[in-house]
Amino acid sequence: MTLPSYAMNQASFPEMYERWLVGPLFRPWAEMALDELELSSGDRVLDIACGTGIVARVARERLGGAGFIVGVDVSADMLAVARAVEPAVDWRQGNAGELPLPSGETFDVVVCQQGLQFFPDKPAAAAQMRHALTKGGRLAIATWRPDDEIPFFRDLRRVAERHLGAIADQRYSFGEAAPLEALLRDAGFHEVRSRIVSRTIHFGEGVPFLHLNTMALVGMSSLAKELGDHERKRVVEAIVSESASVLQPYTIGSGLAFELSTNLATAKG
Ligand SMILES: C[S@@+](CC[C@H](N)C(=O)[O-])C[C@H]1O[C@@H](n2cnc3c(N)ncnc32)[C@H](O)[C@@H]1O
Repeated sequence: MTLPSYAMNQASFPEMYERWLVGPLFRPWAEMALDELELSSGDRVLDIACGTGIVARVARERLGGAGFIVGVDVSADMLAVARAVEPAVDWRQGNAGELPLPSGETFDVVVCQQGLQFFPDKPAAAAQMRHALTKGGRLAIATWRPDDEIPFFRDLRRVAERHLGAIADQRYSFGEAAPLEALLRDAGFHEVRSRIVSRTIHFGEGVPFLHLNTMALVGMSSLAKELGDHERKRVVEAIVSESASVLQPYTIGSGLAFELSTNLATAKG
């Protein structure tokens, strides 16, 4: 199975992602994207790179049985969690560059939240999105802004880089609006627009978040491939410990609050 290079292939990562990250970090933007798309009864919705399924689940909450919702992800482990949490969605394993859709299957709404930056062939993925969308259908894509604009994540990366050398953090690797808009125009979408949206993210528990973020950073470093399990664990612990000073200004009790920004691109089929 092809997986993004940030530790999604660790057996427990999808459960931890769902347990600790989805509520504070992904649900608010899923709600915002679906607000923007103005779902209406009967809509057919496709969630690409659905992960553990938050966009599809929010769509399901809004449409109930009066909609048809498909979630696609390359990771069987992420989909296993998605399926366990919400069996009513049609979860399918597949690659965004070659969507697992039978010939002629189309959707009124296509969403890709924080997935596009991981796709190796973005034009192929955009073409597949275009193909999957009905004429006049609505598309929304979110990609985080570059982490150089997000001091909290930039400074946590810098701590990790002291141990691991330069880290190309894939999560923030497609952060400029212009290439995102160009990708969609080149794929033939209409009414392509994008805006930057920022909000304050609140974590009730800072410690699990820091561990997960550190595991992700270690997983993305080129040095990580050379580390055995024991050494990797030691490096994660050292980075977590040294990150305390970065976290300090963002700490509220046992929780955290920090600013985060995303591009939100919308278009029509
Ligand atoms: C940061 S997660 C976002 C998940 C979800 N959209 C959310 O908002 O929580 C990125 C997801 O992209 C998926 N992914 C990466 N490359 C992919 C590809 N080529 N095709 C489909 N999914 C992919 C990963 O497996 C992962 O679940």
